[in-house]
Amino acid sequence: MNGSGTVGVAVVGAGTISNQYLANLTSFPDLEVQIVADMFEEKAAEQAEKYGVPNSGGLQDALQSPEVEIIVNLTVPAAHADVSMAALDAGKHVWTEKPFALDRASGQALLAKAAATGLRIGGTPDTFLGAGLQTARRMIERGDIGVPLTGLTLLELPGVPQPPQTRRRGCAHHLARTSASPSPALQRRPRDSRVRRSQPPRSQSPRRSSDPAPT
Ligand SMILES: NC(=O)c1ccc[n+]([C@@H]2O[C@H](COP(=O)([O-])OP(=O)(O)OC[C@H]3O[C@@H](n4cnc5c(N)ncnc54)[C@H](O)[C@@H]3O)[C@@H](O)[C@H]2O)c1
Repeated sequence: MNGSGTVGVAVVGAGTISNQYLANLTSFPDLEVQIVADMFEEKAAEQAEKYGVPNSGGLQDALQSPEVEIIVNLTVPAAHADVSMAALDAGKHVWTEKPFALDRASGQALLAKAAATGLRIGGTPDTFLGAGLQTARRMIERGDIGVPLTGLTLLELPGVPQPPQTRRRGCAHHLARTSASPSPALQRRPRDSRVRRSQPPRSQSPRRSSDPAPT
């Protein structure tokens, strides 16, 4: 955070989402994950070993580590505010998973504490608070592209609604891939059944130009 060398990070909360975080954090050249911590220290040790992090332990181990500058709070929502406040009390910057806090007062207390101590606190969602958009914002503020004259916003949605047939096939296909023995009712129908219905019988003669157009 002082601009020289790598920044030491502690991951607190060694649950499901820590896999994603640890895979990413351990790949960034400017960060050094120093410790994984959890209230269940064996979980922390497991994750530390899996991602090549040198230390593991409980929250206090992370807070007392002099190499750690940022606490990445991946605990359960009910613990977010307490863990973040403990981190600020220990003089660490904080990145927290959502929710920032469970109530407004706790959230405001965290912001006030960070402001008073000169520490930074931030959190998910990492879409608009993440590296892509924040880098773009920084470049604009720095004047790298001059004064922007227009802007473009893109919103990504799941896609165009599919016809019911496609949805049924997708569902059965998904179950077939994710379940060892999908319900027979959901298994794919024989390949030919739907195709044949929309085609003329093979014996029907081709339409001539003088025939009335099909309605
Ligand atoms: N799992 C996801 O896909 C996902 C996606 C986005 C956001 N999140 C958020 O990430 C956070 C963690 O989610 P998760 O799915 O990894 O949860 P999880 O329950 O799998 O893991 C949470 C871990 O935090 C530990 N923990 C709880 N309180 C603690 C405390 N006071 N001190 C130290 N360790 C403590 C638990 O022992 C557990 O190992 C949640 O806030 C969740 O909203 C999760």
